[in-house]
Amino acid sequence: MSGLRIKSPRLLVAESGADLEGHGLRRTLGLFQLVCFGVGAIVGTGIFVGLSDSVGHAGPAVVVSFVLAAITCVLTAFAFAELGGAIPVSGSSYSFAYASLGERAAFLVGWCLLLEYGVSMSAVAVGWSQYLNELLGSVLGHELPAALSAAPGEGGVINLPAVVVILLAALLLVRGVRESARATAAMAVLKIAILLLFCAIGFSAFEDGNLTPFSPAGLGGIGAGTTAAFFSYIGFDAITTAGEEARNPRRDIPVAILICIGLVTLLYCAVALAAIGAIGGDEVGGRPAALSYVVNQVTGSSAGGAVIAFGAVVAIVSVVVAVMYGQTRILMSMSRDGLVPRVFERVSPKTATPVSNTLIVAAVFAVPAAFSSLDAVVDLTTIGTLATMAVVNVAVIALRRRDPGLPRTFRVPLYPAVPLLGIAFCLYLMYETGPAAWLQFGVFLLVGWLVYEVYGRRNSRFAATADTRGPKGGPAGGDAGPDAGAVPDAGAGEAATRTAEAERRA
Ligand code: ALA
Repeated sequence: MSGLRIKSPRLLVAESGADLEGHGLRRTLGLFQLVCFGVGAIVGTGIFVGLSDSVGHAGPAVVVSFVLAAITCVLTAFAFAELGGAIPVSGSSYSFAYASLGERAAFLVGWCLLLEYGVSMSAVAVGWSQYLNELLGSVLGHELPAALSAAPGEGGVINLPAVVVILLAALLLVRGVRESARATAAMAVLKIAILLLFCAIGFSAFEDGNLTPFSPAGLGGIGAGTTAAFFSYIGFDAITTAGEEARNPRRDIPVAILICIGLVTLLYCAVALAAIGAIGGDEVGGRPAALSYVVNQVTGSSAGGAVIAFGAVVAIVSVVVAVMYGQTRILMSMSRDGLVPRVFERVSPKTATPVSNTLIVAAVFAVPAAFSSLDAVVDLTTIGTLATMAVVNVAVIALRRRDPGLPRTFRVPLYPAVPLLGIAFCLYLMYETGPAAWLQFGVFLLVGWLVYEVYGRRNSRFAATADTRGPKGGPAGGDAGPDAGAVPDAGAGEAATRTAEAERRA
């Protein structure tokens, strides 16, 4: 236990200044903005592009797949809600792991979050490019040339629109979170409206017979459909990365997460039923731009499909913005801890945003966006996200045991059954991703472990910032082990000073 380098939740909050005003980032986000931010991060490529994959696996029983994926998320959302309310800092599951399982686990969780946020951002940008081309084709009659809008393996040279959307998102975020939150809120409302319009059109042509046979591929199809459907829920935890910019994080973050999951689940089930009820599962399954196709079939005109394509373009922009925001805030937390270079923690005094961090993230993840296909990274994103979600459930149990007196604005109901079930669901969906994804994930984790041992552990500021008080003010059982005596790095003195100041104020 002593070598784990566990950082106390109180210290994490005090270091971030999350309980203070004037801590660098501005507190501008209320409950409504947080819900919009969550919807902005969640609803995108998964429903607009991925629905046809899930239906291809499960048929009309895709609604069961959506509900199973939602249950996985809800179980884990309780864990995020408890931890996000107790430790309202920007690091999300990375910070939760640091406070409960120690530094190495936290680093590996942060490493996996590069899949959930960074790599999925590249994939989502590729999906945006496809829909942009579809929209240009139906409105102007001309698509961009394949050489400039597809990856090398898909008949192109470079996917320029995917790069452009990432750069646009970076510019928006650099301008300031208030502007970004407004833009994200507007995009979130618009995409919900577009999906509701889709439902109205789909249900107007609904036929019961299209729902039979309900489960053509049986339980196996539902399982594969659930893993595919899970991608459309990725992003709900991004709300916890806004902990330092929320006006009332302890109350609003847990509520916002649960509202988002409920809203999105209803929306996805309605969209799936409307699509299949209108034209049948066989017609929807595997079809590109399936939602536009359904509307074109029902209305008998291509104008409706263009409106849906427009909705997809808008929806996916907001996912890119929200996911990039989450990635920069997680890197900021890791940088504060010395586990990644310090450039990631710098906040510009002019814009109150981490400008260099945002530009580096945009530049790095624009590369896979320019040169890879959507499918290439979806499974890896899914397995990495599920692994971090499983760890968050473990973190709830570990923190309840380690620090029972920590103020919690929300408590996971039916503890410990709910987090244990959350772990089981995550492991089941991970199993369903298949051996190729497991192999890639294993290699990715191995590289992460090496990076931690070679860079992170040596540059960690844990020794300088470790809380010497235990949960109740007594000696900290797990904090001060042999590792705590390691020689601090050059930034440790400053970190220690800041920590001392933070503790005095806390
Ligand atoms: N849930 C996000 C989307 O569907 C990743 O685009």
